[in-house]
Amino acid sequence: MRITPSLLNADFAHLAGEAARIPGADFLHMDVMDNHFVPNLTLGAPVIEALAKTVEQPIDAHLMIEDPDRWAPQFVDAGAASVTFHVEAARAPVRLAREIRALGARASMALKPATPIEPYADLLPELDMVLVMTVEPGFGGQKFLDLCVPKIRRTRELIAATGGEIWLQVDGGVSLETIERCAEAGADTFVAGSAVFGADDPGAMVEALRERAAA
Ligand code: DX5
Ligand code: ZN
Repeated sequence: MRITPSLLNADFAHLAGEAARIPGADFLHMDVMDNHFVPNLTLGAPVIEALAKTVEQPIDAHLMIEDPDRWAPQFVDAGAASVTFHVEAARAPVRLAREIRALGARASMALKPATPIEPYADLLPELDMVLVMTVEPGFGGQKFLDLCVPKIRRTRELIAATGGEIWLQVDGGVSLETIERCAEAGADTFVAGSAVFGADDPGAMVEALRERAAA
């Protein structure tokens, strides 16, 4: 079970300090938004590059942007260990996944809540991770969408059928209350933003989430 906290709800003036509060995090999940693919604007490759040089944890870049085919390679160059693109935005997801891997990062594909996994089953061997969104992307602090749980289960089945080691990440509304549902359905990698950075002790919350997911 991997916990990959989102820094979207952390203090943007002290990102490195916020990362230091969660030493047990497996990755730092960084939400990149372009105000086109989603109605919010956050940060880009220069911030990831500065952070990657400073923090202990590897960086998991979640690109909620148009034209990831054009921009994703920059995030690998910036030092992201894992780069997630949205399949709804990608022009050539197979080529893009291969390019991310060739540049040396883990390649990951995200699905919005209304996007089914089945049409993309054949792409799975090209990927190191699939991200099933459990809220509409764009903002932290939204309510977990239970309607996404069956898709987590189907994605796990399709991953198992490939025989490959592909991680299954969930993102959106993940908390002590909802993480078990995700784990039970087959998720093994968990983004949590407000649950972690809204806690008095974010580091302890990371471990509490990990324990609850494994229960
Ligand atoms: C939302 C982002 C998430 C967000 C999660 O579009 O992709 O990573 O930070 O925040 P919580 O855990 O508060 O839903
Ligand atoms: Zn995210």
